[in-house]
Amino acid sequence: MRHAFYLLSFLLISAVQGQQKTNPDEIRDKMKWYENAKLGIFIHWGIYAVNSTDESWAFFNRKISWTEYMQQAKGFTASRYDPEEWAELIQYSGAGYAVITTKHHDGVALWNTKAKHYDVVDNTPAKRDLLAPFYSAIRKRGIKAGAYFSLIDWSHPDYPAITRDSVRYQISNDYERWQRFRNFMHGQLKEVNDLYKPDLWWFDGDWEHSAEEWESMRIRTEILRVNPLSVLNGRLAGWGDYETPEQNIPVSQPKYPWWELCMTTNDNWGYKVTDTNWKTPFEIISIFADVVSNGGNLLLDIGPKEDGTIPAEQVNILRELGDWNKANREAIFGSRAGIPKGHFFGPTTLSADSTKLYLFVSGNSEGPLLVKGLTNKIKSIRVLGNNSALTHKVVGKISWSPVPGLVFINLPRPVQTKYITVLELSLEGPIKLYSGQGGF
Ligand code: GLC
Repeated sequence: MRHAFYLLSFLLISAVQGQQKTNPDEIRDKMKWYENAKLGIFIHWGIYAVNSTDESWAFFNRKISWTEYMQQAKGFTASRYDPEEWAELIQYSGAGYAVITTKHHDGVALWNTKAKHYDVVDNTPAKRDLLAPFYSAIRKRGIKAGAYFSLIDWSHPDYPAITRDSVRYQISNDYERWQRFRNFMHGQLKEVNDLYKPDLWWFDGDWEHSAEEWESMRIRTEILRVNPLSVLNGRLAGWGDYETPEQNIPVSQPKYPWWELCMTTNDNWGYKVTDTNWKTPFEIISIFADVVSNGGNLLLDIGPKEDGTIPAEQVNILRELGDWNKANREAIFGSRAGIPKGHFFGPTTLSADSTKLYLFVSGNSEGPLLVKGLTNKIKSIRVLGNNSALTHKVVGKISWSPVPGLVFINLPRPVQTKYITVLELSLEGPIKLYSGQGGF
């Protein structure tokens, strides 16, 4: 009987869901701010910072027991937590949004949840809601507020899995128990939605169940009913607004109109004292330029310590990135994906009206740079950050052929800037490219 009920609801929900999945044309308007923001800061903060364990995965993968993992709660103090300072740093980096872990897979909420479950107010010496002051500090600075929320909750007694190789129960054998978990989950989602009205929701863990099992459509509908402009990431088993490749930069431009690379600054999402494999500011900036040139956003992660201080290396990365963003802002914020590969050896972006082409040059090459297939006349070229004017030369143009000549641009060493030099080419009219094979 229970099986039949389960199957019937599954079929009904699938039928309805089939008709209503996200349609890019319908969400285009609400995605505007997100599309122009380019940079977000991801924050993984939780009890895992206490003993530098993997965030939630430590017990799921049986590196330590669940009990030992949860004991970290006793050491989570937030004693030096200064949300204004966090917000100031995020603003300095140039990010337009920040996404904080309201609850990771371990189930420990950073707010005062009404549900009978773990939170930092009742179970840690921090004893207070850590989200409200953070969201208000960033919003004051015009930064959008994002809520990471793990659908998975391995600590909840009604969640089917607790570790990789053991299950509490099978959903198909105990549908009521699963329904209890879902009621709890919808309740927590509603709390976060009502309390903080997130501008963006960042779901995680959808891989453990199907859209039907999670009730993704219901999650989407209920969130948007209260906060119609909220942007939802793609980890909602097909019901989100954008794609979220993780750690690895896509080699070709993702097909979906909006995408975001989430990436750590070392090798871990949360604070880990032993992890010193920091990416350099140059590496981060190179990756950022590449992401933006492919039409995406970067969600760059930091992992504060249990006391709320941010590791010095991460502060440094965000500051260096911020300085670079300030100098090169025209090429990044509000820009569009660049021109197809093959025209220029490196990342590029375009202004929204496509009358300006930005070229990103890393290293200290003095040799002239080459742009191929550019039909427009170049009005002027300047270096962002110091406004130096550059000269260029067009070679190989045959007067009667539609194939444009090759553009060589001189970039003397003294006008080059830190990490990656960005050139702005002002074009006569919106960009027009020739991408043929050079025949007549
Ligand atoms: C993965 C991990 C999780 C991390 C997330 C961030 O999904 O499960 O630990 O929070 O990536 O993108």
